[in-house]
Amino acid sequence: MSNTPIKHLAIIMDGNGRWAKNRGLSRTKGHEAGAETIREITTYCASHISIETATFYAFSTENWKRPKLEVEFLMKLLDSYLKNELDTYQKHGVRFKAIGCLHQFSKSLQQRIAKTEELTKTNTNLTQILALNYGGRSEITSAVNKLMAEGKTSVTEKEISAALQTPYTDIDLLIRTSGEQRLSNFLLWQLSYSEFNFTPTLWPDFSAKELDEIILDFEQRNRRFGGV
Ligand code: FPP
Repeated sequence: MSNTPIKHLAIIMDGNGRWAKNRGLSRTKGHEAGAETIREITTYCASHISIETATFYAFSTENWKRPKLEVEFLMKLLDSYLKNELDTYQKHGVRFKAIGCLHQFSKSLQQRIAKTEELTKTNTNLTQILALNYGGRSEITSAVNKLMAEGKTSVTEKEISAALQTPYTDIDLLIRTSGEQRLSNFLLWQLSYSEFNFTPTLWPDFSAKELDEIILDFEQRNRRFGGV
């Protein structure tokens, strides 16, 4: 049986550091190469395939534990990525959204994020979501707190789903690169019925060609959602 098309793809981009190390480069070069891969995959999804939403794990709540210089570099890279990406978003009809605890970022980065969301909000080919300072448990906890603040004393699954930062759709397919096989607190609620694909490819080497192969594999899977 073949699957319906993927509406929502999620990617845990892993292996930038190892990619750089294998080449005798600094980790920051790996992150720069990783940012290029986000661009390639985003434009491919927007222009060639019917995916509606692609969510990328760009910075987790745990990533603050990295060396200060690496964190600072990632913040600068994110800012310049969003600045340079605007043309690409507009050219390929990509709507940009960010999820996560954004208030912990610098004011200027928060402004860059808000401005990019605003300028791209009418684009319809693809929604690209960057998960930034994101944690799945924290997202669920915030949703429940929000509902309680509205006066609810008990909540339904539907209400929690709608109160999440990513209420768009459940995720059809999750890809994690670099051979690691964990969720690392990513989109815990939305991944309940997803198909998983773990590839050994390091994120900077991931390509549209490999994405096509993974989608072909997904289409052969029989998703039963608990039925028979
Ligand atoms: C993991 O590689 C990757 C991340 C820290 C998240 C993804 C970050 C990027 C693709 C950089 C640019 C992002 C934007 C949005 C500009 P790692 O450092 O954990 O690799 P390792 O496990 O091999 O050390």
